Amino acid sequence: MKIKTFELERRQSIWENHVEYNLTESGIHPLSLGELLTEDEQKELLELELGYGQTNGDDRLRDQIASLYDRPSWSRENVLVTNGSSEANLLAVYSWLEPGDELIFMMPNYQQMNGLAESLDMKVKHWWLREEDAWLPRLDELENLISDRTRMIAVCNPNNPTGRVLPKTMMQELVELADQHGVLLYADEVYRGAELNGEETPSFADLSDNAVVCGGLSKAYSLPGLRMGWLAGPEGSIEQAWEHRDYTSISSGLVTQYAARKALMPKRRSWILQRNRRLLRKNLEYFQQWTRKHNSRFHFSDPDAGGIVFLRYVEDISSRELTRRLRERESVFLVAGDCFGLDGFLRIGIGAEPQYLKEGLSRFDRWIEENWE
Ligand SMILES: Cc1ncc(COP(=O)(O)O)c(C=O)c1O
Repeated sequence: MKIKTFELERRQSIWENHVEYNLTESGIHPLSLGELLTEDEQKELLELELGYGQTNGDDRLRDQIASLYDRPSWSRENVLVTNGSSEANLLAVYSWLEPGDELIFMMPNYQQMNGLAESLDMKVKHWWLREEDAWLPRLDELENLISDRTRMIAVCNPNNPTGRVLPKTMMQELVELADQHGVLLYADEVYRGAELNGEETPSFADLSDNAVVCGGLSKAYSLPGLRMGWLAGPEGSIEQAWEHRDYTSISSGLVTQYAARKALMPKRRSWILQRNRRLLRKNLEYFQQWTRKHNSRFHFSDPDAGGIVFLRYVEDISSRELTRRLRERESVFLVAGDCFGLDGFLRIGIGAEPQYLKEGLSRFDRWIEENWE
C-alpha cells in the first residue's frame, strides 16, 4: 500500500534529537518515572511480571479512564486502551471507515487521520478554521460539506496547532449536526486537561451518546514516553475497535499501564495538570513579551490550551525555507506551517523548561537580526 508521507512526524523524527534547541515540541516538559511514582510504587514496579497485558487494557485502568467522563452509566466496556492516542486515531480510521467513504476533517489539525484515510482510498474533505475567526469553526461550512457518503466528522479539541478550545454551545451544535445526518463524530481530545485557565474542556463524549473520543497521557499529562492512549465511546463502537486492535499491537505494555494507573489517581492527576498549567502560563507570558519585542512581525491568538502557539510571520519566505535556515544556522528546530497545510506559520512549543525556551528564542532573535533587520 502506498502511503502519503506524514510530513509533520517525519520532520520531527529527523530533527528533534539532532538540534540544540527543539522549540516545536507539542507537549509539555516530561516527568520522569521517579517524579511520577512514589518509592513504594517504584519497588512494586520492579516486581511486576512482564507478561502480556489484557488486549483491551487493564480492567482497573479502564475503570479509571471511564470515570474521567461525566457518564455515570459508563463502565470499562466503554474504554479501549491503546498505544498512544496515535493508535486510537489509527483505529478510528481502520475500524469505522471503508474505502470510498467521506471523512470531514477539521484543519489545521494533527495530520495523522488525514494521511491515513487518503492512503486507504477514503475521500477527505477539509473543514478549515481561519485565523480571522480566531480559529473558531463555521458550522454552516461544515453543513455544506456533508453528503450522503459522509461517514465521519473528525475534530481536534483542544486543537493542535492553534490551541483553540471550542465553546460548549458550539460543541453542542456540532453534536446535533452529526446526529441529524447520522454521521459519526470523532474527537481527538489528547490536549484536554492542558487548559491555561484551569477549566477542563468538556468532552464530546459527555455531550453525545454517539460520539467517540480519544485521549491519552502524552500532552496534558506530560508523559509521552509512556505511549498511553485510549478510545472512549458507546460499547458497540469500542467493541468494534477492539476487534481491529487485535491486528495492530495486541496490547499495551504492563509497565505503561501500571504507571498510567498511578498518573490517573485523582490527587496525582490534579498535581500533574496543575504543574503543567503553571509552566504553560509562565512560558506563554514570556512568549507574549518576546513577540511584542518584534513589533508587527509576528501575530498569534493566545492559545486556550495545549503546549503550542501557531505563529504567523510577515516576511516573504516560505515556512519550510525559514525553518531550514534557522535550523542550519542556529540549531533551532521549528515545525513549518506547511506541515499543517498553512504556509506563513510556525508552530512553537511553549511547554519546554523556561530557561530552554528563552535560550532557543534568543537564538531566533539573532537569526532575525542577521536576516530581517
Ligand atoms: C492532536 C494529536 N493527536 C494525537 C497525537 C499522537 O500522540 P500520542 O500517540 O503520543 O498520544 C498527537 C501528537 O502530537 C497530537 O498532536
